[in-house]
Amino acid sequence: MNAQLHPLASNTELDAFWMPYTANRQFKSNPRLLARAEGMYYWTVDGREVMDGCAGLWCVNAGHGRREITEAVTKQLSTMDFAPSFQMGHLIAFELANRLAAIAPPGLDRVFFTNSGSESVDTALKMAIAYHRAKGQGQKTRLIGREKGYHGVGFGGMSVGGIVNNRKIFGSSMLPGVDHMQHTLDIGHNAYSRGLPQWGAHLANELERLIGLHDASTIAAVIVEPIAGSAGVILPPAGYLKRLREICDKNDILLIFDEVITGFGRVGKPFASLAFDVTPDLMTSAKGLTNGAMPMGAVFAHRKIYDAVMQAPEGSIELFHGYTYSAHPAACAAALATLDIYTKEGLLTRAASMSTEWENAVHSLRGLPHVIDIRNYGLIGAVELEPRAGKPGARAFEIFLKCFERGVMVRQTGDTIAMSPPLIIDAKQITRLVETLGAVIRETA
Ligand SMILES: Cc1ncc(COP(=O)(O)O)c(C=O)c1O
Repeated sequence: MNAQLHPLASNTELDAFWMPYTANRQFKSNPRLLARAEGMYYWTVDGREVMDGCAGLWCVNAGHGRREITEAVTKQLSTMDFAPSFQMGHLIAFELANRLAAIAPPGLDRVFFTNSGSESVDTALKMAIAYHRAKGQGQKTRLIGREKGYHGVGFGGMSVGGIVNNRKIFGSSMLPGVDHMQHTLDIGHNAYSRGLPQWGAHLANELERLIGLHDASTIAAVIVEPIAGSAGVILPPAGYLKRLREICDKNDILLIFDEVITGFGRVGKPFASLAFDVTPDLMTSAKGLTNGAMPMGAVFAHRKIYDAVMQAPEGSIELFHGYTYSAHPAACAAALATLDIYTKEGLLTRAASMSTEWENAVHSLRGLPHVIDIRNYGLIGAVELEPRAGKPGARAFEIFLKCFERGVMVRQTGDTIAMSPPLIIDAKQITRLVETLGAVIRETA
């Protein structure tokens, strides 16, 4: 297969950039180089159009090249490029926090800014521990994650995460005092569920088993993705998240939803928490917050958490935590412009109106060779393929490469092909995305 896209690549030096989550040597011997983006499309360095079936990395929810965001960032940089948020403030940071609080799940109206999903996760974990300590329960420090969970790459997020390749070489460096519930992917019971699977709410009871093992008095928080993306789109069985909420309430354990990919309209509501009608105590976000145009994340904390931590003596710093670039002015400007676009174009709820069309399109791939499951929710879709004997991920990777050659970018994770297009996608584009994937699956052994 020839995925060599541009002669420049062969004489451009590619060695210095140690690429993240990439097979560096394989990529550099056959690079896929993007040069431009607009709306639903990328263009490669040699000018080929590639439809974006992943919103970049689940972040470009309003489509690429939004002038309003560029203009807002340009204006902000020329007015004030940087301002510290340690013991100083600048107005658009407060404005942005207020705007976010207005669309947040009920009660989660205190907003802490970070620069990424990983930082949001580590911030939320620290807030959970700080909250219990502020309430005189300093022994409540244990964190519970879930198998197959992805919470970024910080030591906290990696420790509560449950993807084996992210963990195995760092095994002895994990945070102590972390345990994991089992994941909710069960193809035997739930293959080809449309939307939420009906089987599996009882899997939340696993949390009770861990409480029995460690005792609630030692557990600070449970963190889950309402819909897990990185491990191949894993949906919560109907009733599962509500059950988790009940068990947390009963045991004074905080519930953290990691909404880094589900936030900002991906599931047809501003946040998955609103779509599933389960309110966490802390919620992490990033990605769609700025439409991917500037690095930024935000942690939404329930007011009870903020108020408890604010009990520190007057004049002292209440939470010893923050980043130089927390609430960076240019990122705030990008986020405000992004929220304006989302509001004006109804993008925070558009996925709900497209979801039946999307579901039907994605499920039309059922019955194709090697397809063993299809999962969908909002504008998220996943096709699970049977792995090749002894070569996990190889079939899906080949499909990803072939789709790219045919002008469609999908995401491969293990033996799953995941799709999460910009929320502006139209019916014709859905057809092209899914038909291209289908054609490639058909001809891949
Ligand atoms: C659920 C979830 N949490 C955290 C992260 C980490 O975000 P970042 O790559 O911005 O650090 C991701 C990234 O994909 C994610 O999907």
